[in-house]
Amino acid sequence: MRSPSVFEQIRSEAPQISVGMLTADWMSLGLELKLLENAGIKLLHFDVMDGHFCPMLTFGAPVVAGLKTPLLKDVHLMIDEPLGKLESFVAAGADIITLHAESARHIHRALQTLGKMTNANDPARGILRGLALNPGTPLGAIEPLLDQVDLVTLLAVNPGWGGQKFIPATRQRLSRLKEMAGEKILLGIDGGVTRDNFAEVAQLGADIIVTGSAVFDGKAPADNVRFMLNILKR
Ligand code: DX5
Ligand code: ZN
Repeated sequence: MRSPSVFEQIRSEAPQISVGMLTADWMSLGLELKLLENAGIKLLHFDVMDGHFCPMLTFGAPVVAGLKTPLLKDVHLMIDEPLGKLESFVAAGADIITLHAESARHIHRALQTLGKMTNANDPARGILRGLALNPGTPLGAIEPLLDQVDLVTLLAVNPGWGGQKFIPATRQRLSRLKEMAGEKILLGIDGGVTRDNFAEVAQLGADIIVTGSAVFDGKAPADNVRFMLNILKR
């Protein structure tokens, strides 16, 4: 039997939490990821920043490749002109690749190109094509791209750092986006999601909720995700 595509997997188990590993304790990452996996996490979120598109510089494809995990790799590219780098992230095992609408002069072409690529882990899985919008980008930017995306993610913070505060206007933007996107597109929300606002964010109806620093708050990552997953089960 064919394994389910990434799209089918997420759709059937939505909403899912994608854990941002930027603020993890990298010295104990292997152990922590195992605990998250045992708690029921399926997605690992990689924040790739180039110091141009956003102020911080994080890591590139070799780090995505080097992290061996059965979790699905959810790669968020906050880099200028990502087209030429797509192949290296696909080769690194990305299952989801999200590009920023603001990051490329020819974003349509970048998404088209991504649409022709094959998942390096398992061709049957496909690669989920994501489009992210900064908090200052009008939602209308997605309209000409709707047939080229599987996921639209709204940033609830400005890209660049973990641990920022959730921008309240994101709530309204997500409900408008829902009307625009229709049934065939998954919705994501990224940034500023904490234990305190998790229940409220979950109510907004995104399929993928990204949370990073609130999981790796230095205490107990697995407890934090269990707390969040329990809210989703209610
Ligand atoms: C914003 C990134 C987010 C962010 C998530 O630059 O795209 O993924 O780091 O981290 P928290 O959950 O700490 O806001
Ligand atoms: Zn992100």
